[in-house]
Amino acid sequence: MYRISRREFAAGLAASLGGVPAVVGADSTRAVTAPSPARTPQATRSPKRPVVISSANGYRFGATRVAYEKLLAGADTLDAVVAGVNMNENDPEDMSVGYGGLPNEAGEVSLDSCVMHGPTVQAGAVGCLYQVKNASLVAKAVMEHTDEIMLVGEDATNFAKAMGFELTNLLTEKARKIWMLWRETRSLRDSWGAGLDSPGYDKMQELKRARGQEFEELMRKAAARLGIAEEDQAFAIECVLRPPHGTISCLAVNAKGEISGVTTTSGLAWKIPGRVGDSPIIGAGLYVDGEVGGAGSTGRGEENIRVAGGHAVVELMRQGKSPTDACLEALRRVQHNFRAYPQRLREVDLSYYALRVDGTYGAATLWGPRPSGRRGQFAVHDGENRLEDMAYLLEWKN
Ligand code: GLY
Repeated sequence: MYRISRREFAAGLAASLGGVPAVVGADSTRAVTAPSPARTPQATRSPKRPVVISSANGYRFGATRVAYEKLLAGADTLDAVVAGVNMNENDPEDMSVGYGGLPNEAGEVSLDSCVMHGPTVQAGAVGCLYQVKNASLVAKAVMEHTDEIMLVGEDATNFAKAMGFELTNLLTEKARKIWMLWRETRSLRDSWGAGLDSPGYDKMQELKRARGQEFEELMRKAAARLGIAEEDQAFAIECVLRPPHGTISCLAVNAKGEISGVTTTSGLAWKIPGRVGDSPIIGAGLYVDGEVGGAGSTGRGEENIRVAGGHAVVELMRQGKSPTDACLEALRRVQHNFRAYPQRLREVDLSYYALRVDGTYGAATLWGPRPSGRRGQFAVHDGENRLEDMAYLLEWKN
């Protein structure tokens, strides 16, 4: 799991505490039709099939490996990608997906997912699903066993129960403690944290008023008090200051050129209960056209929904753009939506992943390497399971 450096911590802190972000480079005001300023690191490889691609967490938790093995064993492409992302959904260490995901404002984990099967153009989705680990399997059940495409909220959970899915508490102790850290350090104007009658009251008020380095130190103490393991404290604080969107999106094409995709997530940490992101929206978090290819997304769903990114990337590939260029063009549309206030783009983290039916693939993210040197990567398996650098649209300037 990525951990922030002190420098990044300070940058995030400044932003979250209302510091003035540095002005984004001229790139960010460029019109969508401008030539690409993007950096495209991927080597041009001859397309191979089968191939599986996903967000980077698919490499860490085994999604691309499992999906590829399924393809070699002759599985349908949708079964392969869903089996792949089940690895992330079942592993509590992926705190952006399934079991162990970071909860909403009320401390409840709710999941979003959709699937799309290229050969039949069938789709299924669930939004705001509670108590079921594998939202991707429930989305697939909606696709396979109903005439609908999307079910949401408690009714989606009831549907899952009726379909034989086990109901379980998705909130792990680790996620609950990070949620408590967010909850208790959030506001001077609510009832969370040490009360007026508590010996810890003054310390809690001090933390809520603190800024800069002092704030960082007090946050670490608060994290320790809540029992968050030392090695998880920087991550926990980062989640409090910059609530992550996480997500895994995974696409696969088999040797015959059949393609499918899935996107699954626990969504934005600390979201308002009922919030649904882009991940279950066919055409935003995922789109697959069996004659062209597929595209998925991770990151800030609200921006992706506003450009219908999954569908846009596939349409751009249909018009002849390479997967990487199609992803970059969709990001340019997001950038264009911020033309009146380009500085705000610094708050946006968004990535696209694209796979063509001929096995050509690419991915792009909005921002280039951060001051720490960390850069966006994605997972690829075409016989060799690996991470590759993503192309990016904008240089991160301090
Ligand atoms: N992309 C995941 C979300 O916004 O919830």
